[in-house]
Amino acid sequence: MNSRLPAILVTGGAGYVGSHTLVELLAAGYDVVCVDNFSNSSPEALRRVERIAGRAVRRVDGDIRDRSLLDLAFAAAPIEAVIHFAALKAVGESVLRPLDYYDNNVGGTICLLHACRRAGVKRFVFSSSATVYGIPQKLPLTEDMPLAPLNPYGATKLVNELLLRDLCASDPAMSVASLRYFNPIGAHPSGLIGEDPRDIPNNLFPFITQVAIGKRERLSVFGSDWPTRDGTGVRDYIHVVDLALGHVTALRYCARSTGFVPINLGTGRGTSVLELVKAFEEATARPVPYQIVGRRSGDIAECYADAGLALRLLQWRATRDVKEMCADGWRWQQGNPSGYS
Ligand SMILES: NC(=O)c1ccc[n+]([C@@H]2O[C@H](COP(=O)([O-])OP(=O)(O)OC[C@H]3O[C@@H](n4cnc5c(N)ncnc54)[C@H](O)[C@@H]3O)[C@@H](O)[C@H]2O)c1
Repeated sequence: MNSRLPAILVTGGAGYVGSHTLVELLAAGYDVVCVDNFSNSSPEALRRVERIAGRAVRRVDGDIRDRSLLDLAFAAAPIEAVIHFAALKAVGESVLRPLDYYDNNVGGTICLLHACRRAGVKRFVFSSSATVYGIPQKLPLTEDMPLAPLNPYGATKLVNELLLRDLCASDPAMSVASLRYFNPIGAHPSGLIGEDPRDIPNNLFPFITQVAIGKRERLSVFGSDWPTRDGTGVRDYIHVVDLALGHVTALRYCARSTGFVPINLGTGRGTSVLELVKAFEEATARPVPYQIVGRRSGDIAECYADAGLALRLLQWRATRDVKEMCADGWRWQQGNPSGYS
């Protein structure tokens, strides 16, 4: 099934950030080809994307480490650019299974870049993470700050960034935007797609929504003795739809530039755990019982972006506030108490 229209190849498109980005790509008029092995997602997410967008998503189901599968995907349409989401992302699991993380996240990227080379694709948008900074030397975080990830997951993101930087240095026609996400939360306002964690959520927000819906008794807040305004950890939460729109602007940027550039995608504002709980309670009128427990090892006190480069290069800024993130995330949780299953 080869369409003549140029398309964007999206790896990991059935996942949380990927599915929201597919919606915005389709809305912006792009054709897409999605490659996903559903190791942490469901094909139902892609059906929902099609419902929201009113357009079809071309699918090539399988693993990005499979060379012949990738060649099939690149042959499905003339591919003009790649957005690479596919990765394993659980920090704790990465400490226990580093080999699997390097294999999937670094090995996967290497296979994908070989396929890009075979297909002559030069534009590449990569899902990096604020975890590459490790313990912030200074806040807000700017892209030129030292990179020192604290765990194997973050290390795989850094290795990929180094690889992409070297590749750009070797090929003047390459254009790579490495988007360092801060903390995406919330869901599409339709309530049809959202974050669907398997097992116990690793992140704060799905934990809050699961407590609010009665799936879990109370939220564990890891530490109230951090050097922050209320003693709980501060993060830069960004609405997943704003994040998705950032990818559309990054694609356009890659079309008019060359070289490697890392870009923070955050709001530039920090919100503490207790502030997020309060915002959620106000936005949804649901109580979120919580208990303070000890700090988790490897956590940091505070982390938020300087989002100035994204504004300058991409003309992008986040516009949705924490209340909107909570209201939209809650709509998804309420409408889909068991996620996609
Ligand atoms: N969600 C966050 O908080 C966050 C923050 C910073 C960076 N990121 C990065 O953004 C990207 C997307 O994150 P997400 O939250 O949507 O995660 P997700 O787990 O929901 O989505 C990842 C998708 O990739 C797929 N996948 C994984 N390995 C694959 C492989 N080898 N072949 C094919 N498909 C594969 C999974 O099935 C899933 O659909 C990841 O690279 C992640 O590391 C996420």
